[in-house]
Amino acid sequence: MEPSKDYIFYHKGFCFPENLITPEYIDSLETFEIRDSDVFLVTFPKSGTVWTQNILSLIIHEGHRNGTENIKNMDRMPWLEFNIKNLDYTALPSPRVFATHLPYYLTPRDLRNKRARVIYVTRNPKDVLVSYFHFSKIIDTLEKVPDFNIFMERFLAGKVPGSKWLDHVTGWYSHAEDFNILFLTYEEMKKDLRSAVLKICDFLGRKLSEKEVESVVRQATFENMKKDPRANYEKLPEVFEGNEEGHFLRKGTIGDWKNIMTVAQSERVDEVLKKKMENLPIKFIWDINDQM
Ligand code: A3P
Repeated sequence: MEPSKDYIFYHKGFCFPENLITPEYIDSLETFEIRDSDVFLVTFPKSGTVWTQNILSLIIHEGHRNGTENIKNMDRMPWLEFNIKNLDYTALPSPRVFATHLPYYLTPRDLRNKRARVIYVTRNPKDVLVSYFHFSKIIDTLEKVPDFNIFMERFLAGKVPGSKWLDHVTGWYSHAEDFNILFLTYEEMKKDLRSAVLKICDFLGRKLSEKEVESVVRQATFENMKKDPRANYEKLPEVFEGNEEGHFLRKGTIGDWKNIMTVAQSERVDEVLKKKMENLPIKFIWDINDQM
């Protein structure tokens, strides 16, 4: 069962959601003007984007951290390629922070001159796959695929927005020297959020007091983000709204894939990905109890 053309299209070898972006807009991003103070958060979908978005807001904006500002993360830190609210990005105050799922070769040219900072977050592909499957059921811009096996084969073939997971991750890691980039994993954030927050602060050159760091960590836990309307994505812009019940912040753990994938499905993912993943400089964590 092939994906429906109403939901996706390909441009320059990358798979995009049909109704959120045009090829012309993608091409225009090549000359998008970068400021040295810009921060770009890059992920393959379902790898912890919104989580890291919230951490960045908490670190960068004191008013977000102390609760005096009530701006949703989505508005504070828009998507580079999905400008659904038609914002004038050139009018945003510095430091601008953008989220993006773009592959390294479609990002603004100046980013490759090490202008601005890039944070790339990756997550083990089985949890990404399972999270993506659930997400596709609640979001209107994604095709609903009732059968997990069919969704899995599409994911492995790169027939989902974001294209092939391995290409995305490999692309960014193998071009690391072109960017001013910090790599993080969902799993290290989950296992030791405080250390991840400190790494981000360090990368951004932000000196927070011990109390401020504690406040960021506390507000960025899954439980607290779920309660925070600025961060929980419960009220999505209309274009995304699906009919099914479900939450953007769903389980927020490591190893949920074991609850849905059969042994055969897990082996199928291993067969396609595991060997090639050995070339990546990441130690993948597949279970919440695995050691880093
Ligand atoms: P699950 O579907 O496995 O729960 P993205 O933001 O890239 O779309 O990723 C979404 C995934 O990140 C979801 O995974 C979501 O629950 C998880 N997530 C969001 N905030 C989190 C947090 N504070 N801690 C852990 N996981 C979080």
